[in-house]
Amino acid sequence: MSRNVVKMEFMSLPENVALARVVVATMLAGMDCTLSDLDDVKVAVSEAVSNAILHGYQNRPHGRVYLMVAVDENGLEIVVEDYGRGIADVAQAMTPSFSTLPERMGLGFAFMQSLMDRLEVDSQVGRGTRVTLFKMAPALARAVQ
Ligand SMILES: Nc1ncnc2c1ncn2[C@@H]1O[C@H](COP(=O)(O)OP(=O)(O)OP(=O)(O)O)[C@@H](O)[C@H]1O
Ligand SMILES: [Mg+2]
Repeated sequence: MSRNVVKMEFMSLPENVALARVVVATMLAGMDCTLSDLDDVKVAVSEAVSNAILHGYQNRPHGRVYLMVAVDENGLEIVVEDYGRGIADVAQAMTPSFSTLPERMGLGFAFMQSLMDRLEVDSQVGRGTRVTLFKMAPALARAVQ
């Protein structure tokens, strides 16, 4: 399978969560990937982009969200980056059920962690947050099981 890379930037509008989902799903269409893998990746990217909009920019629409998606025979890599508020304590933020908003469940990072093979979060207060997600190609994932 040949490599494909898409990089894009969009405004921090809630409707762009669906845009990010469609981009990733479209890029995976040619891969040997089950519907359940596809759903997992769509949920993970939605959680990352929602966090950028809701927490990074506190729902202000004029923030920039950067998305990079790369697929090749090894698997899928997704980067979601915002230039917003940042996270003071990343380990705490990644703890299941931790949220700074009382009405939220605090499960976004937990979902990303369990649905993908790797999750990395880099953040600096006042500068922004970069979330990197990786999922192995299904054939490789089967080989290591
Ligand atoms: N891009 C971001 N910028 C700033 N803070 C963030 C960002 N992403 C996550 N956080 C912080 O990490 C916490 C945990 O995020 P997580 O996605 O796990 O839960 P949540 O968004 O609060 O709730 P849920 O995802 O279940 O709706 C958030 O409450 C927020 O404080
Ligand atoms: Mg979240």
